[in-house]
Amino acid sequence: MWKSLKQECMSCKKCPLWETRHNVVFGVGNPEAEVMFIGEGPGENEDLQGEPFVGRAGKLLDDMLRMIDLDRSRNIYIGNIVKCRPPKNRDPLGTEQESCIDWLYRQIELINPKIIVCLGRIAAMQMIKPDFRITREHGQWFDVDGRKCMALYHPAALLRDPHKRPDTFEDLMTLKQGIKDWCDTYNK
Ligand code: URA
Ligand code: SF4
Repeated sequence: MWKSLKQECMSCKKCPLWETRHNVVFGVGNPEAEVMFIGEGPGENEDLQGEPFVGRAGKLLDDMLRMIDLDRSRNIYIGNIVKCRPPKNRDPLGTEQESCIDWLYRQIELINPKIIVCLGRIAAMQMIKPDFRITREHGQWFDVDGRKCMALYHPAALLRDPHKRPDTFEDLMTLKQGIKDWCDTYNK
């Protein structure tokens, strides 16, 4: 199921972003994970390497994950709202998100995570609610379709504005507690 979904997705041309991509960035991590992270869309490095969050923001994300014993090669899965890079790193258009989101929903269905963590405003607006306010609502738990969801500031925003980092540290502690309460991730 997972393999055929990936195969199908890797040749997707459902929106115009396919024309400028080098790679479809399907996702990375353990498809059996209980915790899933969702970003916005691939940047330049991700487009070239075919893996989410491999640039400078990705390095910061890996550092943040390590603080709470999470690791993309072991106990989480990382995906994006759109799987092909928007030109010049602009925000993905509504139409592009609409075309692409079904791939993510199918991934979520197969992974069946207990917790979904949105990275940044775009992912939170798509996954939690359209009027999500990242500055006000980061680090709060929401129930969405029986799953616990929260949003963190996007790691790229933390690189631009280090003043947001203490908030994110607290949010990571909230996330760690949620994982302890609702998942077996730390007992494996
Ligand atoms: N930013 C994102 O939102 N996703 C990536 O994969 C890389 C950077
Ligand atoms: Fe298909 Fe998504 Fe890529 Fe658009 S962004 S071509 S919908 S995989």
